[in-house]
Amino acid sequence: MSDTTPIEHPTWLTSGDFTAADEPFRLFAAWLQDATASEPRDPTAMTIATVDRDGMPNARMVLLKGVDDRGFVFYTNKGSQKGQELDATPKAALVFHWKSLNRQVRVRGAVEHVTDAEADAYFASRPKQAQIGAWASKQSTPLESRLAFETAVALTAARYAIGTVPRPPQWSGYRILPLSIEFWHDRPFRLHDRIVFARDTQNAPWQKTRLYP
Ligand SMILES: Cc1cc2nc3c(=O)[nH]c(=O)nc-3n(C[C@H](O)[C@H](O)[C@H](O)COP(=O)(O)O)c2cc1C
Repeated sequence: MSDTTPIEHPTWLTSGDFTAADEPFRLFAAWLQDATASEPRDPTAMTIATVDRDGMPNARMVLLKGVDDRGFVFYTNKGSQKGQELDATPKAALVFHWKSLNRQVRVRGAVEHVTDAEADAYFASRPKQAQIGAWASKQSTPLESRLAFETAVALTAARYAIGTVPRPPQWSGYRILPLSIEFWHDRPFRLHDRIVFARDTQNAPWQKTRLYP
């Protein structure tokens, strides 16, 4: 998570009272840092919900690969079901659940493509085998057999045996530009703490509201 904002330990963080936070990105960075220390695996795993053309929701896990004051980035195949849904309806909801901390973060917002330069840079940082897999997988389309996929992987590996693997044109990233970010932390007897930061537009100031659990 190279582009996570460094945490300067404001009072609400050192006191442990996250409800005193006055903006969501530093609070998210602090919680992600806590999760990175305590989760047994994949602290960046998040559910992303999209809708199809009929408004039917669809949700699946992806890995957060970047977060800054603009939004939350993940990478995928643009031809996948989620890619097609995001291109038709560029809005999404995210959920992080860190079981080791009993914390949840919910994000809702508009979605944009990352730039080609961002996608190229992230693709270049991946292991070669993963780069080859990105070329070989027609994600979310029917696959006649495991052998067909393994053959495609082997052919791609032979094609790029020498030199670097370029980024497949259909493989890229999406950035969720949040209009609301909600933080939930369990408390005894189900008297949980819940705050939501919301804004009407990308450039509007955040409004913080405490919600009944
Ligand atoms: C923990 C976890 C992390 C995953 N991360 C990604 C990811 O970053 N990108 C991705 O395309 N699929 C990822 N997947 C697979 C997706 O959940 C999903 O199966 C796949 O992207 C196809 O989804 P779609 O048909 O809705 O497009 C991940 C799955 C799990 C369980």
